[in-house]
Amino acid sequence: MANTLPVALITGGAIRVGKAITQRLWSAGYDVAFTYMHSRKEAIALQKQLDPQGPRALAIKADFNHPERAVNAIAKTIRSHFGRLDVLVNNASIYQPARLSITRIKLIEQLMQLHVQVPLLLCQKFEKMLRKNHGHVVNMIDLLAERPWPQFLAYCASKAALGNLTLGLARELAPQVTVNGIAPGVVQWPDDYPKQEREKYLQRVPLARSGTPEDVAELVHYLVTGGSYITGQIIRLDGGRSIT
Ligand SMILES: NC(=O)c1ccc[n+]([C@@H]2O[C@H](COP(=O)([O-])OP(=O)(O)OC[C@H]3O[C@@H](n4cnc5c(N)ncnc54)[C@H](OP(=O)(O)O)[C@@H]3O)[C@@H](O)[C@H]2O)c1
Repeated sequence: MANTLPVALITGGAIRVGKAITQRLWSAGYDVAFTYMHSRKEAIALQKQLDPQGPRALAIKADFNHPERAVNAIAKTIRSHFGRLDVLVNNASIYQPARLSITRIKLIEQLMQLHVQVPLLLCQKFEKMLRKNHGHVVNMIDLLAERPWPQFLAYCASKAALGNLTLGLARELAPQVTVNGIAPGVVQWPDDYPKQEREKYLQRVPLARSGTPEDVAELVHYLVTGGSYITGQIIRLDGGRSIT
């Protein structure tokens, strides 16, 4: 039998920004499923922290280097465990620098799998459930999709493709399902990001701070609860960085 509570699936939802989204939707009353690949320890800890007793939070191992296999397995698990899906957040990502001279086919393939194939296949698999429940899809894009950095060529191109997919899916899945994107500036620095570079970036942010995972989670929450007349939008969440 299907759950009575709404269910959200967050890819890459065990750590960093994805974790904040998982926690925010959980605290808003969603049952949550979140995928992880390497962050097993963090995923199990989060599952226990959210729902020590029972089945309402579920960590699912998924390797999106094999998109079809991973998406099929996720769909099977969600179907048998929850029997429904209301919210899909495509968050999993790799932030891999590579300038033109060192960009290899393998990296382009990985990025396109993760940022385009997986979101598309997940929407395909869950289309019926999302339509039935008047659900919501949120795709995590990046400000760099519209302002590409040459040192992240393939990453930026794949995120731009996800932006385009967001618009196409918004048309395709209407009127039952909303599909939106969030384009963050910095909301959590990579751990090894140099201090000087952080300061340089912040000089061009009118709100004079980097964003936080919670800023993202709040916007996801809004889009899936309050934003019932918003679809096909890519919302910049960047402290004003894009206007400087
Ligand atoms: N952080 C920022 O400031 C920022 C800025 C702009 C846009 N964004 C976007 O916001 C989202 C969240 O950012 P983030 O910095 O928290 O992301 P992240 O740490 O780079 O990646 C999120 C998760 O994606 C999962 N993942 C990566 N490759 C995978 C694969 N092949 N198969 C399955 N899972 C895979 C990883 O899970 P495991 O750890 O379990 O392996 C990882 O924890 C991303 O889409 C990112 O592009 C972030």
